[in-house]
Amino acid sequence: MDDRAEVAESLARLGLIGAGERPPMTPLAGGVSSDIYRVDLASGPVCVKRALGRLRVAADWTAPRERADYEVAWLRIAGAVEGVQAPAVLAHDLGAKLFVMPYLDPERHPVWKGELAAGRIDPAFAARVGRAVGRVHAATAGRPEVRRQFETADLFDALRIEPYLRAAAQAHPPLSDRLRALAARTLAARIALVHGDISPKNILVGPAGPVLLDAECAWYGDPAFDLAFVATHLLLKTLWRPMHAPAYLQALDALAEAYFVEADWEPRAALEARVAELTPALLLARVDGKSPVEYLTEASGRDVVRRIAGPLIATPAPTLRAVADRWARGLEDG
Ligand SMILES: Nc1ncnc2c1ncn2[C@@H]1O[C@H](COP(=O)(O)OP(=O)(O)OP(=O)(O)O)[C@@H](O)[C@H]1O
Ligand SMILES: [Mg+2]
Repeated sequence: MDDRAEVAESLARLGLIGAGERPPMTPLAGGVSSDIYRVDLASGPVCVKRALGRLRVAADWTAPRERADYEVAWLRIAGAVEGVQAPAVLAHDLGAKLFVMPYLDPERHPVWKGELAAGRIDPAFAARVGRAVGRVHAATAGRPEVRRQFETADLFDALRIEPYLRAAAQAHPPLSDRLRALAARTLAARIALVHGDISPKNILVGPAGPVLLDAECAWYGDPAFDLAFVATHLLLKTLWRPMHAPAYLQALDALAEAYFVEADWEPRAALEARVAELTPALLLARVDGKSPVEYLTEASGRDVVRRIAGPLIATPAPTLRAVADRWARGLEDG
C-alpha cells in the first residue's frame, strides 16, 4: 500500500473522511523526517504529518516513530501557553504515528527562513520568537506532570546529542573531552519542556506573530538547548547571506533579550552560561557533525566556523552576547 493510501485509511479511522474516500493530497516541501501533506477535505484543507522511520538525509539515520506522539503532546502544551502560537492538533492517530493540523496557507504564513534569506529581518519578530520559546519554558519549568509526559532522553540523545555533540567530539579530538562532558551534562538536565528544533525553517511568520512547528525532538531537559539551537541558526545565516550579517546579529540579540525576560525559573547567569557553552558546540556540530548545514558549501565557510567555535568550546564565554561578539569579530578577520 502506498503512503497516500495509508494516510487515507488513517483519516477514515479518525472519522475525517469516509471509508474508501481518497481526498486530494499534495506533498509539502521540507519533510526530511516526515511525510507531510496538504489534504483537501470537503470541509477545507488540513495538514497531515506522519513520522518516517528513516530520515531523508545523506547519512543513515533512523529514529523511532513515537516522536510524532511527543510532537503532538508538545503542540498541545505549547499551544495552550498564553502568547504562544502552535498549530492546533485536530486529530491524532497513535497507531499510524500521524496527526492532523489546520493547513496554514503559505501566502499568509511564510517560513521565517525564507524571509530571513530575502533580507526581511525584523528584530521585533525575532523578539516574539524569543518570547514564545521563553514562555513555553517558563510555563513548564518545575512541573513533574509535564516531565513525566516527556521521558524522551533516549530520543533526544539519538536525534540531537549523538549526531551533533558527540559527532563533533569525534571529529575534533582536542575538544572531545569538553564536548562529551557538555553532552552528558545536557542530557542529564530536567528543567523545562524543550522543543529541540527551534530553527527558522520550523517557524512560520503568521499574521498574529510566530507559529512554532515541528516539535519531534521534544524533551524535558535543558531549556538552554533551544536558545543555543536558534542562536546557531542565526549565526550561521551570516555566512549564508553575508550582506545581511548585521541584521541577523541584531535579530539574535532581540530574540535572546526577549527570551531572558521570560526566563524566571533560574538565575539568568547560570542559564546563559549554558547557552554560551552549547552555542559554539552546536555551531561546530553543524559543520562536522552528522547533520551538516546545507548552505555552507564552501570549505572556507566551514573553516570560519571551526576557527571561531573551537576556542569558545575550549574556553567558554560567559554570555551569548560574548559569543555573538566573538562571531562578529571572527567574520571580520575571515
Ligand atoms: N500546519 C501546516 N500548514 C501548512 N504548512 C505546514 C504546516 N506544518 C508544516 N508545514 C510546512 O511543511 C514544512 C515541513 O513541516 P515540518 O517541519 O513539521 O516537517 P518535518 O518533516 O519535520 O520537516 P524537516 O525535517 O524538514 O524540518 C514546514 O516548513 C512548512 O512549510
Ligand atoms: Mg521542519
